[in-house]
Amino acid sequence: MKESYQQIYLASRPYWDTRFNDIHLPLAHEYARQLLISYPDADEAIVIPAILMHDNGWKMLTPDQQAKSFGPNMSRADLRRQHELEGVRIAKEILGEINYDETLSAEICHIIDGHDSREHAISLNDKLVKDADKLWRFSPTGLDIDHRRFGKELQAHAIWTRDQIDEWLFTERAKEIALELVNMTIIQE
Ligand SMILES: [Fe+2]
Ligand SMILES: [Fe+2]
Repeated sequence: MKESYQQIYLASRPYWDTRFNDIHLPLAHEYARQLLISYPDADEAIVIPAILMHDNGWKMLTPDQQAKSFGPNMSRADLRRQHELEGVRIAKEILGEINYDETLSAEICHIIDGHDSREHAISLNDKLVKDADKLWRFSPTGLDIDHRRFGKELQAHAIWTRDQIDEWLFTERAKEIALELVNMTIIQE
């Protein structure tokens, strides 16, 4: 791991002890690394910092506010937006602290700024971050957490999640990984 990635990781970790982010973020980071192998034209120096810091802003919202601002029962898009804006603010602080390259920092912040609210991707780097962020939803760990917090039965939630693959994911490799992951949980009739 490049030294700067470790600095970003260590500076971000304190923000992760909420909303299962201490589980979500390490998984998202692993998926980002897998996708970077399949897409060598993407820039690791943008994708890795962006994925590590993208959800740091959740820490600024209470669990009650968080519950209303994501998932199939979302009612407060403004609070979801707030976690992106807080995430950008925190990312600027962390990147400034370690004197990270300014051009790279600008794209990292741009990606974090729209990682949930912006439905299209602005670059290949953005596609990888968006896909790495969502892939954990298909994993046994993500499904197990999500079906409980969304009040859904596990099988029904896994099947619904599988049906979102084309809707949620941009890259072909992420779609392959998602299908393989979600099929771990789905019991075939
Ligand atoms: Fe997010
Ligand atoms: Fe996320």
